[in-house]
Amino acid sequence: MKYILDEIIENNRKYTSEGNVATYIPELAKGNRDDLGVCVIDMENNTYKSGDYDRKFTIQSVSKPISLALAIMDNGKENVFSKVGMEPSGDPFNSIMKLETVKPSIPYNPMINAGAIVITSMIKGKDNDEKLDRMLNFFRRLSCNPTLEVNKDVYMSEKITGDRNRAIAYLLKSEGIIDGDIEGILDLYFKQCAIEVTVEDLARMGANLASYGIDISNGERIVSEDIARTVKTFMVTCGMYDASGEFAINVGIPSKSGVGGGIMCSVPKKLGIGVFGPSLDKKGNSVAGIRVLKDISRRASLSIF
Ligand code: DON
Repeated sequence: MKYILDEIIENNRKYTSEGNVATYIPELAKGNRDDLGVCVIDMENNTYKSGDYDRKFTIQSVSKPISLALAIMDNGKENVFSKVGMEPSGDPFNSIMKLETVKPSIPYNPMINAGAIVITSMIKGKDNDEKLDRMLNFFRRLSCNPTLEVNKDVYMSEKITGDRNRAIAYLLKSEGIIDGDIEGILDLYFKQCAIEVTVEDLARMGANLASYGIDISNGERIVSEDIARTVKTFMVTCGMYDASGEFAINVGIPSKSGVGGGIMCSVPKKLGIGVFGPSLDKKGNSVAGIRVLKDISRRASLSIF
């Protein structure tokens, strides 16, 4: 496995030049466009890594399926899906358009920014500190990494420049979809996106979802089977935004991307995969990361379809 991963990374490194690091969050512009790393973990907890697997990067939108799982645990499915839909939007991740043109203004799904902000607003806690604590602890549990923390520079960078998300959140408040202190909700959302991870953290979260919520390292249940299934289904239909259809055909693995360059993948009952390549295509997905996943999926016949 290690040898195959080395070969796949080397074959695909050239594609990093076809994209660019995200710049709309200024701190992310400091990333190295040529980085490319991968980690694969199977259900027996065997871990294989290759390329730039030791890099730390911010989780960004890969956090969305994880916070969704916590929000469902906190509020129940019925409550959560009274405020967020279950359908792919076919629009870019930061689109505002349908909130205006389709009534009621419920975000199409929890993977786009609008939906993810609603989900973050549903995390329970007596104040923002407690909510962040609960969120961080949940991410630590699912990744089996007790050291996960928020990257303060990326968090501040997005907080200062995140006016599009601010616009989305205030629009949602004006439509009665979220209530309360919008700046506080956004602060928590920006921190959630700035949690710092490695490909191994993503692979482990993917593996624990692949096992339908059982921690593969110790057999303990982290989330219910139903939540694990719900989250993976969103990863198939909306995980790569308006590229989800093409990705399903070419790769066929439930996956979630982020503008930090990470992709978390979960092959049911088989593997968790984490990929990092901060050079992004126009839709905000890792250019070379997608190529790596396509090759892994083909070589190991991993498509779920
Ligand atoms: O809210 C944002 O725009 C970022 N914190 C996360 C966006 C993101 O990762 C989209 N993924 N490709």
